[in-house]
Amino acid sequence: MSLADFPSELFLPFLNQDNNVPQYVALFRAFQQAIVKGHLIAGAKLPATRPLATALSVSRNTVKTAYEMLLAEGYIETKHGAGSFVSTQLPEQFVAAKCSNANATNHRPALSLFSQRTEQLIPTQTTKTGSLLRPAHGCVQSFPWSQWQKHVTKAAHTMKYASLNSVLGAPLLREQIASYLNVARGVKCHEKQIIICSGSQQALYLSLQLLVNQGDHVMIENPGYSGIGGSIDAMGAVKVPVTIDQHGFSLEDGLAQSPNARVALITPSRNYPMGYTLSLDRRLALINWAKQNKAWIIEDDYDSEFRFDGPPLSSMQGLGGEKCVIYTGTFSRILHSSIRIGYLVVPESLVDVFSQAKQFMDGGLSQLPQLALGEFMATGQFTSHVRRMRKLYQQRRDTLKQLVDETMPNILQRVETDGGMHSVFLLPEGYSDIEICQKANAQDLGIYALSSYYVGKQKQQGLLIGFAGDNEESMKHSIYKLAQIINTGHHLSS
Ligand SMILES: Cc1ncc(COP(=O)(O)O)c(C=O)c1O
Repeated sequence: MSLADFPSELFLPFLNQDNNVPQYVALFRAFQQAIVKGHLIAGAKLPATRPLATALSVSRNTVKTAYEMLLAEGYIETKHGAGSFVSTQLPEQFVAAKCSNANATNHRPALSLFSQRTEQLIPTQTTKTGSLLRPAHGCVQSFPWSQWQKHVTKAAHTMKYASLNSVLGAPLLREQIASYLNVARGVKCHEKQIIICSGSQQALYLSLQLLVNQGDHVMIENPGYSGIGGSIDAMGAVKVPVTIDQHGFSLEDGLAQSPNARVALITPSRNYPMGYTLSLDRRLALINWAKQNKAWIIEDDYDSEFRFDGPPLSSMQGLGGEKCVIYTGTFSRILHSSIRIGYLVVPESLVDVFSQAKQFMDGGLSQLPQLALGEFMATGQFTSHVRRMRKLYQQRRDTLKQLVDETMPNILQRVETDGGMHSVFLLPEGYSDIEICQKANAQDLGIYALSSYYVGKQKQQGLLIGFAGDNEESMKHSIYKLAQIINTGHHLSS
């Protein structure tokens, strides 16, 4: 497409840009909007960087950086020697849904810039998945339901006499979490630093809201947890995808891309999804970087309870990061994915601002489940449940490996890790993980494609297979189904 044929409305958001946003971010967003609204269709060629830079009176580097961001997020693809093109692999239903909403949104009064950014985001989960072998789902049958019910009943009575709602959470639960984290994770904190949130998702969102400005750089893991990208984009911040290797997050790679990053958002105990642990020297280097550069580390410690092959690792917060680490954890994996209780541990200097923001956001969460959970922890039932699940999940992990080795020898290769609730299996060249997962999901298997956790072109093909929620019989049945799909070879890319 020559510059003369280029749709002029594409330029408007860029020309009407917000001065707080760097030019390359504004240009990236202009292209992003044009693509998701369907003004630039799949396969359309983007103008060359030089003439576009001249037409917009910006430097060529600005255009190049915007194109690199579009490439990294999968909006465009490049063909060697031919230029950049709108990606042919955008989720079709997303683009179609945006187009069909276009009429409705064209006629409504203006929304905030925040809404506009939020509307442009690609949802993390667009396809329905099955219910078997799902990563991140624990064994519901093994949950001590009768003990839990007793605590819920007691909590209902306690509610009768509880007068004050605490924005930061029920005092009993905060005390219990503080002492649990102290013992189990080496987190150095007082209960005053604990804030109960509706899952880690809210904890991460709130943290980003208070830590970053529009245009700020946030280093994230690549591959990494996809649930966080939308929150970063919604804040108008810029994601910097940082390579993960066997030793975890590479600060060197992050700083090479973004020397002035404000935040590193990481899963050091077990990278999601690969399962790698951040090595001690890299942990210390990251804490040093944060201290020296007045940057923040957000430590997402989502399932460190399930480390099978060795003693629990100390958190980064407890390794000298008390002043620069915002630590978050969740009960979604230990208790139930619908419990929607997670927490933050914030440095003392941030307690007031987080408390103020939480007051405006939701005024505090429902007391009933918090009181029940507080009692569940205080009686020691929580830690014994964790201990039992750790044993059970370790057995299930080994059973899964055995079944895979029996049914798909030389095809699926497990990534060795020390725990978790899923295993990652790499696929040989030529296999498409997305196609396998589509077929598996149609048969009620809830496995995920590894490639969908990557930002950019370099994507490893593999499968995330959950082992925590399925007993041996069900796992056997599901793995046989998967083996049938994989062994027929129809999903091999030509
Ligand atoms: C790495 C990671 N962080 C955070 C979350 C969010 O957890 P929650 O259910 O507490 O919102 C998840 C959910 O699976 C996750 O995998």
